[in-house]
Amino acid sequence: MDYDLLIRGGTVVSAQDMAKADVAISGGQVVAVGALGGSAREVIDASGMLVMPGGVDTHVHLAQRSRGPEMCDDFRTGSASAAAGGTTTVVCFAWQGKGESLAEVVKDYHQRARQSMVDYAFHLTITDATPAVLDQELPSLVEEGNRSIKIFMTYDGVRLDDAAVIRVLAAARRNKALVCVHAEHHDLISWMGEQLVAAGLTAPKYHPWGKPMIAEREAVNRIVALAEALDVPIQVFHVSGAQSAEEIARAQARGLKVWGETCVHYLTLVAEDLDRPGFEGAKLVFGPPARTKADQEALWDYMRRGIIEVISSDHAPTRYDDPKGKKFAGEDGPFTQIPNGIPGLAARLPVLFTEGVTKGRIDPPTFVRLVSTNPAKLVGLHPKKGAIAPSSDADVVIWDPAKSVTLTNERMHHGGDYTPYEGYQATGYPVRVLVRGVTVFDDGKVVGKAGHGSYLPRAPYAKITPLGRFPTPFNPVDRKIV
Ligand code: URP
Ligand code: ZN
Ligand code: ZN
Repeated sequence: MDYDLLIRGGTVVSAQDMAKADVAISGGQVVAVGALGGSAREVIDASGMLVMPGGVDTHVHLAQRSRGPEMCDDFRTGSASAAAGGTTTVVCFAWQGKGESLAEVVKDYHQRARQSMVDYAFHLTITDATPAVLDQELPSLVEEGNRSIKIFMTYDGVRLDDAAVIRVLAAARRNKALVCVHAEHHDLISWMGEQLVAAGLTAPKYHPWGKPMIAEREAVNRIVALAEALDVPIQVFHVSGAQSAEEIARAQARGLKVWGETCVHYLTLVAEDLDRPGFEGAKLVFGPPARTKADQEALWDYMRRGIIEVISSDHAPTRYDDPKGKKFAGEDGPFTQIPNGIPGLAARLPVLFTEGVTKGRIDPPTFVRLVSTNPAKLVGLHPKKGAIAPSSDADVVIWDPAKSVTLTNERMHHGGDYTPYEGYQATGYPVRVLVRGVTVFDDGKVVGKAGHGSYLPRAPYAKITPLGRFPTPFNPVDRKIV
């Protein structure tokens, strides 16, 4: 036999192009792409199908420890959900609690991740930016391959104040790591929440009122300024609408290494969608919140122009009907007590394909760029991930662009008891998904084995090399004149 597997007759979609081609796979890698002859242990007929690199989701919360509400996906259920939606790589959060050793957290997270059926890497979530963490632990953790740091500008118990943000940015620059940021003005949204609750406006539908766009725009502006002052590449997570995207565009126009991510829910949900009977709106509580139709149109435009480069799920699921989930403070509790976050791993590709490609907003190469190639590049995993090319891992989605599927919670294959997309009509769906040449999802069934996934250490990569440009002739991070 010439190959382990031959995918014949499909249309291979790359980040730039699409063309009819066969894909040959051996030893878990792509070995040839083109008009191929030869024999293989298995031949898949992909006529009429798109053959795309597996989804790379760089914002996924799995197996996250918590002292309060509990996220309901571990690596076993979460990775099954990824596979079921065509995602073959996830980047998750080794999440430091206050007072904890980050190194211990990472060690523990490796154990948790062993159940994954898709490949994975870690962001380092720093919530306690002590000298011990930044100076003693961080250098070896980054060197081991955890080349991105996540920080929060809001949320009690996890947020960093500006002084700590600056310390983390400096440490990231020294250690050659990307910084990913949840940007919202903490004091403003805390105060807004208090005023709404005091006025008796406590239902889930008031959650977006408590987190207005101005609070996000200000924080994006501030983190961009800090990153510019220290010359540190950053990615702004979950850009929810026009005003924040505009801040990113302005930063990019100044030549800064500032990248933006948005999520499928910002393209499909609006604030009014939380106005549901009873407590049902809690199913759509996430931060920053859903905005307006005009924001959605603006985000599509920023995506087409390449200013927003990455679409993630921000899969952060808690169960709805559960005192450890959305009902943590009871159905009468104020929106300020509802855990933020929704499930979205399995829905990410089908919903984005439907809204984007099927509805004519973007073409298939743009889709591949947004969900696979760009995220892989930004976190230093390309071309191992995010490409179908010789020597790339054989992470492949065979995608039927005409397949119509009604989304249900069951189809999400996650640990949650709801999906925000219940009843959504998707057109375009994965029919078979391979991780390093091994089938993990086939014709509606998750068939991968827990533990098939591998940790992906990341080497230093050029995309996040700082510019070497500071506001004055002084480089404050290395304390030298440039
Ligand atoms: O609402 C959200 N996004 N929750 C998950 C944590 C985060 O902010 O990314
Ligand atoms: Zn966030
Ligand atoms: Zn998140």
